[in-house]
Amino acid sequence: MTTRRAPQPGAEHLSEPLRSRWSPSVYDAAHTLDRAEIDQLLHAAQWAPSAGNSQPWVFFVCERGSANHDRLVAHLSRGNSGWVPLAAAVFLSAGHVSTGADADAPAYSDYALYDVGQAAAHLTLQARSMGLHSHQFAGFDHEGLAADLGLPATHVLLTGIAVGLRGDPASADERTAARDLRVRERNGLGEIARAGTWTEPWVGDRA
Ligand SMILES: Cc1cc2nc3c(=O)[nH]c(=O)nc-3n(C[C@H](O)[C@H](O)[C@H](O)COP(=O)(O)O)c2cc1C
Repeated sequence: MTTRRAPQPGAEHLSEPLRSRWSPSVYDAAHTLDRAEIDQLLHAAQWAPSAGNSQPWVFFVCERGSANHDRLVAHLSRGNSGWVPLAAAVFLSAGHVSTGADADAPAYSDYALYDVGQAAAHLTLQARSMGLHSHQFAGFDHEGLAADLGLPATHVLLTGIAVGLRGDPASADERTAARDLRVRERNGLGEIARAGTWTEPWVGDRA
């Protein structure tokens, strides 16, 4: 199996599992995760830091073949409906954003979205360190799926994190296989970092 998608030039000096993380779209539809593996992935999210230890996250576990998986698949966008269902499991992330159902209810935590994103990142890196791959996605009907999952108004559905073993691109449909060949690019350090004030870009040794 080719590993040429990661690391990218410039990322070779990162530590594992950051170095080899990327988001494949071709998954082995015969692979499953056992309960201990799913628990381990959830533990990675559970132990992420959060503002005031508020832990504003909930993950809906959608194992392929389960009722939750059926709920998810019914709401996938067209672009995600070809590849997401093949991954062994999807973890749907939700954030605890407000304290009540009213639109003007106070925020649960001003950093809730930041914290859920960090917990999701930890889950994806744990997956990589277990020899798995992951691919996050936001392309689904959030409202419809939130209703089917019984999500309370205090929470917002954010993303899906598909996790599984990488499949053989030759076995995938053309559109899905093409996704795996997309060029991975990043903004340079001069764009994402500042050496001083806003107008002073960081000048790194490499892009
Ligand atoms: C919040 C979020 C939403 C995303 N939504 C989708 C999506 O709906 N479909 C998809 O194929 N990829 C989706 N992605 C994957 C990104 O396109 C991908 O992470 C990005 O291109 C960088 O590629 P890499 O993860 O291989 O480094 C999403 C990623 C994030 C973090």
